[in-house]
Amino acid sequence: MTLLEKVPLAAIRKVQNEITEASGLPNPAYNDPEFFNFERDHLFAKTWAALDYESALPELGYAKPLDFMGLPILMLRDKENQIRVFHNVCSHRGMVLVTEEGPVKNLVRCPYHSWSYDLSGELKSTPHIGGVGVNTAEGFNCEANGLKEISSDIWMGIVFFNLSGEAGSFADFIAPLERRWEEFVGPGVFDKLQVAPTHGTLELNVKSNWKLAIENYCEAYHLPWVHPGLNTYSPLDQHVNLHVNDYMSGQGSLNYQWMEVEGDSLPKFPSWPEDKQTVGEYISLYPNVMLGLQVDHTFALIVQPQACNASREKLQLFYVDEESVSESKEECREAVLNAWEVVFKEDIFAIERMQLGRSSPAFTGGVFSPVLDVPSHVFHKWVASYYEKGLSEKGLSESAS
Ligand code: FES
Ligand SMILES: [Fe+2]
Repeated sequence: MTLLEKVPLAAIRKVQNEITEASGLPNPAYNDPEFFNFERDHLFAKTWAALDYESALPELGYAKPLDFMGLPILMLRDKENQIRVFHNVCSHRGMVLVTEEGPVKNLVRCPYHSWSYDLSGELKSTPHIGGVGVNTAEGFNCEANGLKEISSDIWMGIVFFNLSGEAGSFADFIAPLERRWEEFVGPGVFDKLQVAPTHGTLELNVKSNWKLAIENYCEAYHLPWVHPGLNTYSPLDQHVNLHVNDYMSGQGSLNYQWMEVEGDSLPKFPSWPEDKQTVGEYISLYPNVMLGLQVDHTFALIVQPQACNASREKLQLFYVDEESVSESKEECREAVLNAWEVVFKEDIFAIERMQLGRSSPAFTGGVFSPVLDVPSHVFHKWVASYYEKGLSEKGLSESAS
């Protein structure tokens, strides 16, 4: 069965209809392993996707291997403190280079024939390549055989990468969100946020496709039933839909309540507007980041797809200043992390049961609330546009017509 037989173009195009006439993405988009690989090459690879956090590389020369939807990737911090992302594969006979994270000092050495690369990916040593004791070979050019680097950039401590190199400038990609949120936090703040040594991270494994985590985050509709606690102080009627552009949507709360622990609270962004202290914004940055902005902290949840029916959610909290991450504020940070942990764990049963529902032939993409599901529909339309482009690139649209 071809991909287009599994997911006909008509089903993909139906997503693009006006919301009252639209269907959601069909089941194979959530439970077909071949479609998962298709998404990697025709959706994730074509745009700026989130890989991991900069904080995963704690020192100069630190390297971390990652499996991104089956691709071996190497993320490292070079000696100039620049984060670089490479394909984690030796140019000689294709061995995966690094299998355990840690400091690599000066060279990444392949354990097979000991070819070595510096931290900028240049091939520096090729022992015996020209015969025993001869470390160069006629016509062999080290420069042409370095590691294959992947475009990457950092924003709010998140390492973004673009596998195809076709996504255009990262600055342009992030500008609409940066401009929007600089109205709250002021210019240049996203490079200066602080990561706390304790109570700053959380990892959740969910038995669901990555898209269900993202689309669930787009809407506040489920709040009264899935998050009864949150709903007491930030109820559904205090939420608004956010449609930033065609690759960012979500919801805003008008009633964010910052944590107080025995009368103490976290420092707030100094330039945050006085009349918007209780505004919180929760935006999905497609394909795979969920972001939150409040007066006293921000957060990101990167969704790392593991399989068509499994994902890892990696949360990182970011704070306003050094005082926020000091020992004296530890209890406040703990309260913030605990509150978010409750909320994100409450969402798990919902997205896992939506995943199970996608085994039912009675479900063919479903429908949307024309009001409260608008941000989810924006996400579905974005995904569908990549499917359509990708399927025509594969030449499948022709064969189906
Ligand atoms: S495969 Fe890496 S040195 Fe031969
Ligand atoms: Fe939720």
